[in-house]
Amino acid sequence: MSEPSDTAPSAALVLGIETSCDETAAAIVSRNAAGEGRILSNIVLSQFDKHAIYGGVVPEIAARAHAESLDLLVKTALDKAGVTLGDLTGIAVATGPGLIGGLVVGATTGKALALATGRPFVAINHLEAHALTVGLTDQVRPPYLMLLVSGGHTQLLLVEGVGQYRRLATTIDDALGEAFDKTAKLLGLPMPGGPAVEKAAANGNGTRFDLPRPMKGRSDPHFSFAGLKTAVRHAAMQSAPLSEQDIADLCASFQAAVCESVADRVRLAMRTGASHFPDAGQRPFVVAGGVAANKALRATLVDVARAHDFSFHAPPFELCGDNGAMIAWAGAERLARDLADPLDAPARPRWPLDAEAPKAIGAGVKA
Ligand code: KG4
Ligand code: ZN
Repeated sequence: MSEPSDTAPSAALVLGIETSCDETAAAIVSRNAAGEGRILSNIVLSQFDKHAIYGGVVPEIAARAHAESLDLLVKTALDKAGVTLGDLTGIAVATGPGLIGGLVVGATTGKALALATGRPFVAINHLEAHALTVGLTDQVRPPYLMLLVSGGHTQLLLVEGVGQYRRLATTIDDALGEAFDKTAKLLGLPMPGGPAVEKAAANGNGTRFDLPRPMKGRSDPHFSFAGLKTAVRHAAMQSAPLSEQDIADLCASFQAAVCESVADRVRLAMRTGASHFPDAGQRPFVVAGGVAANKALRATLVDVARAHDFSFHAPPFELCGDNGAMIAWAGAERLARDLADPLDAPARPRWPLDAEAPKAIGAGVKA
């Protein structure tokens, strides 16, 4: 029997649109009858330069920038994939969580395209799209244990199936990406903070500053990074004025503390969560979200997974940050399960993956 190809009649061809924060993105992804995905185009337009002088993302500027570029980006994604709107099987849009202005721009554009083409509209949870990306890139299928680390979220999740998530842990204050961004800002490094801190850390001594390892050894499963960020601030103030080497050492020390703290939380989840994976040979651990691009963190987590009999998986670097391919793929996975949405599906600035998860003590609204 020949392999099903993604040009077979049962193949899905999905446009994905991402406008939840400061990246405008559109992509075309196919999914064949065997559930294998392929990226036909993936265009990401970053707004960093528009926000840089403000030291953070300005929601109104972000929404306007999405509105200005999204139509052209969609056309470019279609052209690059060599397909037309009429070839599409569905239109998937990240409708939350994120900044409301941007979400509305993406949702309105996607709904208009769905209406014009008569194709189904799929409202995608941005976090679900991060969570499912390894299905597109590495054919990793649920169930798996997942660490989701982005600019707004830090969670350990049990991914039981498409649309089925059990939250095991969350941050009680800052998200990990946010901690990287704030650390970069206080050290005068450029946006986006995560890559800047990682780059500076490469020339630094990670043992020079004795920073806390938040939550390490605690029996409750959650994360916390606000105290670490404050400790970096104090260490920076004590060493001021900072030389380039001081900054590199602070970044390396911060990154080392992050790795140790996250590794401890993941170890706990692997120990307590192992019962969800009765077959020891089949225990995938996945890290995703923007911070999953951090090489030191990835290397740490490879070791943690190996020590606990979990296989390690992460999207390729270019698909860790926000992109349209992950939205299109989540849309294709949902369409394959007849999970389309009505055209009045709302934009949802807050949209937890696990609505049943109890609030973690101390957790801010983002959790
Ligand atoms: O998933 P993402 O692109 O957007 C959100 O959904 O938030 O994640 C963005 C976050 C930012 O905080 C950014 O600084 C961080 O991911 N990030 C990194 C790295 N690359 C991006 N953090 C640490 N090291 C990196 N290499
Ligand atoms: Zn994201």
